[in-house]
Amino acid sequence: MSEPTADSLRQALAAIKDPASGRDIVAAGLVEGVQVKAGLVQVSLLTDRAHAQAMEPVRREAERVLAGQPGVQNATVVLTAHKAPPAPAATAADGKPKLLPDVKAIVAVASGKGGVGKSTVAVNLAVALARQGLKVGLLDADIYGPSLPRMLGLNRKPEVQGDRMIPLEAWGLKAMSIGFLVDADTPMIWRGPMVMGALEQMMGQVNWGPLDIMIVDMPPGTGDAQLTMAQRVALAGAVIVSTPQDIALIDARRGVKMFERTRVPVLGLVENMSYFCCPNCNHRAEIFGHGGARKEAEAMGSEFLGEIPLVLDIRQAGDAGTPIVAAAPDSAPAQAFAKVAARLWDKVGGGATAAGPRIVIS
Ligand SMILES: Nc1ncnc2c1ncn2[C@@H]1O[C@H](COP(=O)(O)OP(=O)(O)O)[C@@H](O)[C@H]1O
Ligand SMILES: [Mg+2]
Repeated sequence: MSEPTADSLRQALAAIKDPASGRDIVAAGLVEGVQVKAGLVQVSLLTDRAHAQAMEPVRREAERVLAGQPGVQNATVVLTAHKAPPAPAATAADGKPKLLPDVKAIVAVASGKGGVGKSTVAVNLAVALARQGLKVGLLDADIYGPSLPRMLGLNRKPEVQGDRMIPLEAWGLKAMSIGFLVDADTPMIWRGPMVMGALEQMMGQVNWGPLDIMIVDMPPGTGDAQLTMAQRVALAGAVIVSTPQDIALIDARRGVKMFERTRVPVLGLVENMSYFCCPNCNHRAEIFGHGGARKEAEAMGSEFLGEIPLVLDIRQAGDAGTPIVAAAPDSAPAQAFAKVAARLWDKVGGGATAAGPRIVIS
């Protein structure tokens, strides 16, 4: 039997509709790289992370159609993502230079809703990175509900040098929070523009010095702070925290969408309060049906960075101002944070840390 041609296969694929545009997938420009060799066919379908899930039935249908063509023994169709978003520009759209040029990687820790453990994850990741020998900054972008003073056990006011504030230091990292400047009982009656002002000041008028990585604890939701971060700094990307409950995952998706709209890459998902570890018998109970974030990450085409158990020690350590990664670095929960931190550092192109082997390629 004669070998099918790329053209004839494209024609066959034109019978399939692209759910997003309503056109056929060939006319919509989704079919890329049709390869045929000895009856084996390979085709790429172009998609983006946001539509990967919706494209899965299309992918399967394409395989079915191709496999039914004369001369085809086996057909493989893969979804390929659009080219990576362009590297963050050095200047914002308004021409203002981007803040924090001396920070190698700025990572926002975000979620769609509050109470999922965003601050807990941000703080422990930051401490874990600092313990690996990196120069780490931790910025509390939650102007309305700052958590860093409590979680780091800091209640001093930062010193001022000239027109700049000196960040506070704890657990091997530098930290700044509106909570260091404003008394805990002062009502946060700030409005959007002031949020942007305060956030910009905490980036531009603080003596952070050169840093390997800055972790930003974002407020919940998709408001002004997210926009400010996306516009005013060159974000390496966002880490989305979610709990296993479906509802939280729907919110996580919202968080992902927000960053995608602003062209900030989503570095991955972390599942917090993933399973409950009984402190008495070490029994692992998957209260909320664990694993949702991993599936969700796969469906959205982003990476699953790891899972953090629900353990009393994490909350108690956080409340006491001694993050568990610092208080009990060898404990299982601290190790879980360290693993996510290592994966994150890898994701931002960090490579080997001072603790690990340094590989020099010349
Ligand atoms: N893995 C966990 N195990 C136990 N308690 C946790 C865990 N993650 C967060 N918590 C607790 O849940 C509460 C909310 O966490 P927090 O980090 O403040 O959430 P967010 O910043 O998303 O609002 C805090 O009391 C925190 O100590
Ligand atoms: Mg918080």
